[in-house]
Amino acid sequence: MNNDIRVGVFVCDCGTNIARTVNVPQVVEYAKGLKNVIFAEEGKWSCSVDYLAKLQEAIKEHNLNRVVIASCTPRTHEPLFKKTVKEAGLNPYLLEFVSIREQASWVHMDDPVRATEKAKDLVKMGVAKAILLELGEDFRLPVKQDCLIIGGGMAGMTAALNIAAQGFKAIIVEKQPQLGGLLNKLDRIAPEEVSADAMVKAKAELIAQNENIKVYTNTEIEDIQGYIGNYKVRVKTNGKSEEFDASTIIAATGMKEIEPVGQYGYGDDSRVITQLQLEGLLKSNGLEAKRDVVIINCVNSKNEERGCCNIGCLASVKNAMALKTINKGTRVHILYRDLSIVKDELSYLKDARNMGIKFIRYTEERQPEVSREDSHLMVRVYDLLLGRELKIPADLIVLTTAFEGDSTVDQLKGQLKVSTNPDGFFQEAHVKLGPSDFPSDGLYLCGCARSPKNLKDTCEESMAAAMRASIPMKVGYLEAEGIVADIDLDACNDCGICVKNCPYGAIQLVDDRPNVLKALCKGCGLCAADCTKDAITIVHYSDEQILAQVEAALEEKAQEKIIAFCCHWCALGAVDMAGVSRLQYPPNVRIIRVMCSARVATKFVLRAFELGAAGVLVAGCEFPTCHYIVGNYKAEKRMERVTKKRLAQKGYDPSKLWTAWLSATDGPKFAATMRAMTKQLNLE
Ligand code: FES
Repeated sequence: MNNDIRVGVFVCDCGTNIARTVNVPQVVEYAKGLKNVIFAEEGKWSCSVDYLAKLQEAIKEHNLNRVVIASCTPRTHEPLFKKTVKEAGLNPYLLEFVSIREQASWVHMDDPVRATEKAKDLVKMGVAKAILLELGEDFRLPVKQDCLIIGGGMAGMTAALNIAAQGFKAIIVEKQPQLGGLLNKLDRIAPEEVSADAMVKAKAELIAQNENIKVYTNTEIEDIQGYIGNYKVRVKTNGKSEEFDASTIIAATGMKEIEPVGQYGYGDDSRVITQLQLEGLLKSNGLEAKRDVVIINCVNSKNEERGCCNIGCLASVKNAMALKTINKGTRVHILYRDLSIVKDELSYLKDARNMGIKFIRYTEERQPEVSREDSHLMVRVYDLLLGRELKIPADLIVLTTAFEGDSTVDQLKGQLKVSTNPDGFFQEAHVKLGPSDFPSDGLYLCGCARSPKNLKDTCEESMAAAMRASIPMKVGYLEAEGIVADIDLDACNDCGICVKNCPYGAIQLVDDRPNVLKALCKGCGLCAADCTKDAITIVHYSDEQILAQVEAALEEKAQEKIIAFCCHWCALGAVDMAGVSRLQYPPNVRIIRVMCSARVATKFVLRAFELGAAGVLVAGCEFPTCHYIVGNYKAEKRMERVTKKRLAQKGYDPSKLWTAWLSATDGPKFAATMRAMTKQLNLE
């Protein structure tokens, strides 16, 4: 026992939330007998102002240098307790949080004895880790007030005006000779029927008058280096290279049509065009009056590859009406799968019907067919509502095709070190929790850089991205957690795996040796888990600390226990949700929190089986939304391809290693997994 380590354990009743099921006095007595525990106490409401003051007094009075809080969930209350111990003069990284409410009292209400045993184990695991905790520190990155906006379409212009309105500097980089983006290709905007040119002109004038906005047109990004508060940007503008600094970056790169080459005669017959090509003709008044126009919607969308294109229905109705306006006598048919028109746009649809535009519903199974009869185009379509096939002549066919990310995205994603989806749209940090953010601080996205959307949604998203970027610029710094990677260069053999694998590009070679850029590191632990030399440690989640938890959990009755490594975000969210919902499951599991499932090294799993664990579960975020970009994919791959093989080599049954990929609301799925696992492992 290290006599310098003085642990205090504070076990909460949470009113009766914990105390009704778990025998808290027993847990406190048990804690008092644990190695290095100097003080243990029961608290009725540990998070109350009064008790927090008591906790601070206890830290001082007993000279505690480690604190274990056994109460609710770290996902809600850890920041409060960190702040409390910090105010008492203790480094907040010397606090360990144990969840005996969500993981014991609420989910084992019918079995108070085993719930209490589990709470004791969880406290023991917390103390084992706390003994090994080391000092850590949050760090501050200064952030100035200049924002690079990549793309000068409606999204980029709106974001720039919002940034500038707050007194910050916005720098727009646009590859085209003028601002406006996709709007420059449009005639009018539905459903208001506003001129796209007039809209661009109005915004561009506001931008030209704004001293806080600098615009580069005819300019491409050559290189971006750095991190929030410290980006070095090199652009090629009108043939010359120029460099400037930026503190934050918003990607507003827009989108382009997927060319429907070879579909419905596109590319073979000039009478088959896309919606954007039709827009061009309408805009330039270059369209001769037509007799029969057929518009085919959902080309390249609503199929196995991608869903609804979001904007095609309204665009097709708008352009059909424009054709009718040019020539009342033009017969226009819109062939659609479903009409995605929101309530506010219904009168617009009614107007279209009143103009005589015909709507024909077709199915995915029976797609329209285009043929040439003599010199005419003929469209055959099975009308789902009439229940028969129709033959429609056409002298113009317009394809409403899906969209993909802009052509610059491929290069930019490498420069920004972010990811894209299969359609080349940028991938946000989290669809619900961070829709305007990239996973790395300081990088934001909006508009059609993220997915196809209409003008209203584009503007709203752009304002959201501008606000997100403004927060650190207003505050003047970003406070980053000290849970980061640390490389022991003496142990490192320079294999470069960590440099290659880090999803944030946070490990870079300096003089041919890996170096962690702490400002970029998020502490996911992927590098540490994959390091063959054990040269990387993650502050607060070191190998020793995690292994100490495994060993503490399995000290007694190991054969009855399941070790579950759960990521802090969705997996622990699901665990908490099971608790909040009072879903009952067998009390065999002992949960070890890691920031990401990618942190779970093969050796952790092996150690659990060596110590006799009945089974091991690795649980992370459901695909694709890991909070560290690709951590869940890497974890799954590691478990399937490496860990299970190693288990088999060592004589353990690989089928006892389970994985579960959960959303934060997947409480029922977590509880069901635990029930299924205990059943398969014959633990009932
Ligand atoms: Fe949940 Fe990566 S954060 S798996």
